[in-house]
Amino acid sequence: MILVTGGLGYIGSHTVVSLLEKGYDVLVVDDLSNSTVDVLDGIETASGIRPVFEKLDLQDRQGIEHLFKSYTIDGIIHFAAYKAVGESVEKPIAYYQNNLGSLLNLLSEIAQSNKSIPFIFSSSCTVYGEADALPISEDAPIKPATSPYGNTKQIGEEIILDATRANASFKAIALRYFNPIGAHPSIAIGELPIGRPQNLVPFITQTAAGLYPKLTVFGNDYPTVDGTNVRDYIHVVDLAEAHIVALERILDGKANDAYEVFNLGTGKGSSVLEVVKSFERVSGLKLNYELGPRRAGDVVAAYADTTKAREVLGWKTSRSLDEAVASAWNWEQKVRN
Ligand code: NAD
Ligand code: WQD
Repeated sequence: MILVTGGLGYIGSHTVVSLLEKGYDVLVVDDLSNSTVDVLDGIETASGIRPVFEKLDLQDRQGIEHLFKSYTIDGIIHFAAYKAVGESVEKPIAYYQNNLGSLLNLLSEIAQSNKSIPFIFSSSCTVYGEADALPISEDAPIKPATSPYGNTKQIGEEIILDATRANASFKAIALRYFNPIGAHPSIAIGELPIGRPQNLVPFITQTAAGLYPKLTVFGNDYPTVDGTNVRDYIHVVDLAEAHIVALERILDGKANDAYEVFNLGTGKGSSVLEVVKSFERVSGLKLNYELGPRRAGDVVAAYADTTKAREVLGWKTSRSLDEAVASAWNWEQKVRN
């Protein structure tokens, strides 16, 4: 079966649904530190299948050993991590401990298993920082991390690369996500930020739902189309599907190298104001927003060069920004009712 760590989280739950729809047996592991067990019901509603679930903190080495003894694991998609950039600055040790400790535990277990277990890792476009050229390709230089969170992704990638070099049967793919948004079309699962959302799309939908009086647009004096930051917003279902393509690339013996990296984005940049317009278009509502100061640490613009994902991985996105924003809004309305 396929082990999905962090499989009750936002991207993990959508990937579990895609795996189940493709006929895979799935073992979900999550410690519920940023999710709830109800997500299992949502996964079952969306896919018609209830996956096996084990509540486990991946920092628990013995717990992982027990897990590998109890199940036959044929592949791992590793989502489990803490992901709040601001919080990582306040609690760097907790971030290094969880994000790298969990990764190291899994890699040790794989090494001990004497089995070839494909490994797919959730990385981030944050490793590119303020890129020198746009769109951003996989060979763009990695910039010094601006947060402990970002650093856990850079170090995580390096650890995995070294692990593949030391073990001829170990193959891994790191997927660098751009900005995942939206929800499954069934709206049985979606993004559930705890507390005040830091990310743009949940903040827009929660503002429209009346939880906040207005959106503040962080800066409108950037050198972009309308002065606001540009990002590559990717529908979470497109993103989920890419994980299965990556997993099958290793399972089917098609990976060129023991360790490969792919950007996952649409290739299209959208400004903050374009996302606001998309929301207004799909919801038929006017969004209350104000133009405010820049947010510290924001890069001006980031969007993916999708050539390698398309030509080597054989994957591209098929869902539009409007579709993604509409699904986020449908999900928000469901959650609030
Ligand atoms: P999420 O917080 O919704 O999901 C992560 C899940 O992992 C949660 O359910 C949490 O309870 C679980 N978890 C955390 N630590 C754990 C541990 N020690 N043991 C077991 N479970 C644990 O986050 P997400 O948005 O779905 O992100 C998934 C992955 O993708 C993360 O690695 C994140 O860093 C990465 N990523 C996310 C984004 C994004 O914008 N959402 C962008 C790039 C990369
Ligand atoms: C998008 C744009 C904001 C909120 C973050 C992490 C990154 C990655 C994805 C994991 C920016 C603007 C936002 C608001 C706004 N995560 N904005 N008002 O910053 O691209 O990336 O999430 O790896 O590591 O840093 O995404 O959704 O926070 O912001 O104007 O209330 O929306 O300034 O331009 P970001 P975001």
